[in-house]
Amino acid sequence: MLEAIAELRSQIEADTAAIASATDAEAFRLKHLVRKGTIAGLFDRLREVPKEQKREVGQALNELRTAAETAFAEAETRFATPESAVPSHPRADVTLPGRTLYHGHEHPLMQAKARMEEIFTRMGFSIASGPDIEDDYHNFEALNFPPDHPARDMQDTFFVESGDRADVLLRTHTSPVQIRVMQSQKPPIRCIMPGRVYRNEAITARAGAEFYQVEGLYIDKGVTMAQLKGTVCEFARAYYGADVNLRFRTSFFPFTEPSAELDITCFLCKGDGCRICKESGWLEILGCGMVHPNVLRNCGIDPEIYSGYAFGMGIERTLMLKIGLNDLRLLYENDIRLLEQF
Ligand code: DAH
Repeated sequence: MLEAIAELRSQIEADTAAIASATDAEAFRLKHLVRKGTIAGLFDRLREVPKEQKREVGQALNELRTAAETAFAEAETRFATPESAVPSHPRADVTLPGRTLYHGHEHPLMQAKARMEEIFTRMGFSIASGPDIEDDYHNFEALNFPPDHPARDMQDTFFVESGDRADVLLRTHTSPVQIRVMQSQKPPIRCIMPGRVYRNEAITARAGAEFYQVEGLYIDKGVTMAQLKGTVCEFARAYYGADVNLRFRTSFFPFTEPSAELDITCFLCKGDGCRICKESGWLEILGCGMVHPNVLRNCGIDPEIYSGYAFGMGIERTLMLKIGLNDLRLLYENDIRLLEQF
């Protein structure tokens, strides 16, 4: 029996050395390693072996089987090709499409800001900016807000602790930048002032404590309300499309006289009246007016010589009305399903 094992061992060694392909390896397996193969055949004959030799013979057979299995496993890896598919070994499917990589891009809100800047710079406006942390003078007083105006209340304004000063605050609108520009430049002045503003308000679908505005200002000799209307209507047509329906409505702001608001047809009901437009068919997009003589005077500009117009609008709101978004908070959640639509 031990002789038979030794004979088979040299046979297996010869066969191993002769394996030159996956097919050879498979033939080797079928010859030696299956149930009806050579090694199993010798195991069957273990019954005939006398009791005292069983241990030795069994051990020799086990070693032979292990050696054959190792030889086969090595050959199999060496000659593994797609044709020699062995189901228990998963392989890469090169025909599968690759994984998509996400490309980052500008946030829709910043895209809207850039679009507004583009429209106004094309009309001849330059871009100015001012600080987010302001004082009462620039945010309210110079803009002709009376001392008891409700917007000055703690309820609406975030005040900033700043030593012993009680007049430091986060700007509640971009209008203070008008003051800074008029104080530092001589007319003609024609600029827009985009930036972030802050209000002490509960966060809802329509209002947040922090949002963006774009302010506009044009000061020169003989500036008229007709020019104001032409400019803001032209902006609305460029931003919303040439067929947008527009309406002017009289309004009030302390820093403009006369004041107006510009409305567009409700994006949802197209003017029939619905929940979004409070049944009016219209939605407000901006406030505007002729710069109040007191404001010009506060900035050292003579209202007898110069006149000007100003306007201001929320960027989130302007964008929401364009894309039909009914909840401002969606712009801040950064849900990829929203972002990838822009
Ligand atoms: N500052 C106003 C606000 O935050 C918006 C505004 C209205 C700006 C009229 C203007 C303007 O320049 O003329 O609600």
